[in-house]
Amino acid sequence: MEIPFELDLRDKVAVVTGGYGKLGSAFVKALAKCGADVFILGRNPKKGEDVLNEILGEGIEADILKCDVLEGEDLKKARQIIKEDYGKNQIDILINCAGGNHPDGTTSKEYLHEEDLKKEDVTTFFDLDKKGFGHVFDLNFMGTFLTTQVFAKDMIESDTATIINISSMNAFTPLTKIPAYSGAKAAVSNFTKWLAVHFSPVNIRVNAIAPGFYLTEQNKELLLNDDGSYTDRAQKILSHTPMNRFGKKEDLIGTLLWLVSKKGSDFVNGTVVPVDGGFSAYSGV
Ligand SMILES: NC(=O)c1ccc[n+]([C@@H]2O[C@H](COP(=O)([O-])OP(=O)(O)OC[C@H]3O[C@@H](n4cnc5c(N)ncnc54)[C@H](O)[C@@H]3O)[C@@H](O)[C@H]2O)c1
Repeated sequence: MEIPFELDLRDKVAVVTGGYGKLGSAFVKALAKCGADVFILGRNPKKGEDVLNEILGEGIEADILKCDVLEGEDLKKARQIIKEDYGKNQIDILINCAGGNHPDGTTSKEYLHEEDLKKEDVTTFFDLDKKGFGHVFDLNFMGTFLTTQVFAKDMIESDTATIINISSMNAFTPLTKIPAYSGAKAAVSNFTKWLAVHFSPVNIRVNAIAPGFYLTEQNKELLLNDDGSYTDRAQKILSHTPMNRFGKKEDLIGTLLWLVSKKGSDFVNGTVVPVDGGFSAYSGV
């Protein structure tokens, strides 16, 4: 993978949750390319083998550790393995990337019409249940909170400590249909600012990247028809993206490396940076 500029991260230790997903794997590859030792946290290590093999070619230490970011014991175990098996007492970079939406937190339609209340095949706001809604909310917000609790203590000794959370366009203005995901990402942005303030005396910078729209597993049901053509929603997104395209994962790497670099962004703290082709700047008129 090509990176937009060089950054020396040799001897730095990075932890990336969701690091074999579409966007997370790009972050992992970029950090490895810069020489950081990278530990990927994910629920199914087999799924990340290709990413792991690719980054091991960079001559760094790396592993995938089985970990559900909603399980405190998994997180503690992963931390222990990185410390005891790899001798890494200090963590320098934490990327909280695990997240996503799920149909259980999604309404079928953008607007509520009274006649839909009687239709079995329409999920209205009133059909959303605590379990489904809660899972989406927890994955995106609690997963970020719990992971940070487990790993940030070992970042205090680092002189380049940086946490990057992954927020979303939903954090600025909620998208229709996905209230759980929208609320959770708004919470992630808010928490980013809270943590930046709270951690400032111990020199851990905390920022977030808010990607615009990138076609990945988590959103393909909403954006692609069965035949691969764009849904009405996808077309609406493009018409509200002044640069008139979906993002490519490579589009995020410059911002990632800038935020990771102490030299490049030492006084940048508590920000949420949109990488969105102008979507969040455009009112639609
Ligand atoms: N794709 C987009 O357009 C877009 C836009 C804005 C924000 N995001 C955010 O970017 C991040 C990455 O998304 P992506 O598009 O690469 O999706 P993805 O589905 O490819 O990646 C998400 C990763 O999170 C992992 N994950 C899910 N639940 C987990 C859990 N409980 N514990 C550990 N890992 C878990 C998945 O296995 C997967 O590897 C997410 O936080 C997502 O909300 C994506």
